[in-house]
Amino acid sequence: MIGDPIEHTLSPIMHNAAFEALKLDFTYVAFRVKRGDVENAIRGVRALGIHGLSVTMPHKIAVMKYLDRVDDFAHVIGSVNTVLNKDGQLFGYNTDGVGALNALRENEVEPKGKKVVLLGAGGAAKAVAYALAQVADELVILNRTAQSAVELANSLGKVLRKTVVSGELSSAALEAHLSDADVLVNATSVGMKPNIDQIPVPSSLLKSDLALLDIIYDPVETNLAKEAKCVGAKVVSGVEMLIYQGAASFEIWTGLKAPVEVMRKAALKELQRS
Ligand SMILES: NC(=O)c1ccc[n+]([C@@H]2O[C@H](COP(=O)([O-])OP(=O)(O)OC[C@H]3O[C@@H](n4cnc5c(N)ncnc54)[C@H](OP(=O)(O)O)[C@@H]3O)[C@@H](O)[C@H]2O)c1
Repeated sequence: MIGDPIEHTLSPIMHNAAFEALKLDFTYVAFRVKRGDVENAIRGVRALGIHGLSVTMPHKIAVMKYLDRVDDFAHVIGSVNTVLNKDGQLFGYNTDGVGALNALRENEVEPKGKKVVLLGAGGAAKAVAYALAQVADELVILNRTAQSAVELANSLGKVLRKTVVSGELSSAALEAHLSDADVLVNATSVGMKPNIDQIPVPSSLLKSDLALLDIIYDPVETNLAKEAKCVGAKVVSGVEMLIYQGAASFEIWTGLKAPVEVMRKAALKELQRS
C-alpha cells in the first residue's frame, strides 16, 4: 500500500489475516510515499515484481498516469485505489464504489429502484455516486460546497445519461429530499475522529424507514449512526464498506473469493483496540 499518511491504515491487518486464512504466500505492507514520489514507487513495483498495490490519499489520482491500463469505472471517476501487476503490466481499478454497493446489499439494503440521498462530493463520494447512480431510481447529491455536487451530478448525467439532482447540504435541502428517501449515504467526513460530536443531518429528519450507510469507519459508530438507530432506521457501518472494498481488491489480486468474515473480525479488533 502506498499513501501519506499511512500509519493508521487497517488494510495490512485485514489483508494479512485474509492471506493467512487462505494459506497464501503473500504479505501486505504499507509504505509511506510522499507526494511527488509516486512515479518512483511505481518503478519500484515494476522492478521488484510486486504483485499488487493499494493506493490511498494523496496518490489515487496521480498514480493513474504511471499505469499501463485503467478500467472503465476507475477511468470515469478519475481515481485508482487498486493495482494489479499482471506479467509486468500494471492495471488500475477502483473498488470503493463496489465496496459501498456490496456493503449495502450484504446488509440487506437494496438501492436498486430506490431514492438515494448522498452527502458529500469528495474522493470517496465520487466513487459511491457512480456506483449508486447506476442502480438507484433517483440520486440526490448534497455537499457543503454546492458547486462540487453540481459538477459531480453533471458528469454522472453525461456518462450515465441520467438526471442526478444536486445542491447545497443545507437543512432545507435535507428536509426536502429526506422526506421520501429510502437510503441515505454519508460520504462527508462530518463525525469522523476527532470530531465525533458532529452530525451532518439533524436527528429530527431521520426516520425508521430510511436505511443509512455512514462510510466513516472511525469511530465504528458515528453520532449519525447512533441517532438513526434510535429512530429505528437500518444502519450499515463504514467498516462494512471498508471490508467490501478490501474484499474486491483481494479478489482482483488473488482471483479467489475473499474471506470476508476473517477480514471483518481483524478490522473490528484493530478498531476497538485504537
Ligand atoms: N469506509 C470506507 O471504505 C471509506 C473509504 C474512503 C473514505 N472513507 C471516509 O469517507 C470520508 C470522506 O473521505 P474522502 O476521501 O472523500 O475525503 P475528501 O475528498 O476530503 O471529502 C470530504 C467531504 O466531506 C465534506 N466535508 C468536510 N467537512 C465538512 C463539514 N464541516 N461540513 C460539511 N461537509 C464537510 C467535504 O465537503 P466540501 O467539498 O465542501 O469540502 C467533502 O464532500 C472520510 O471520513 C473517510 O475516512 C471511508
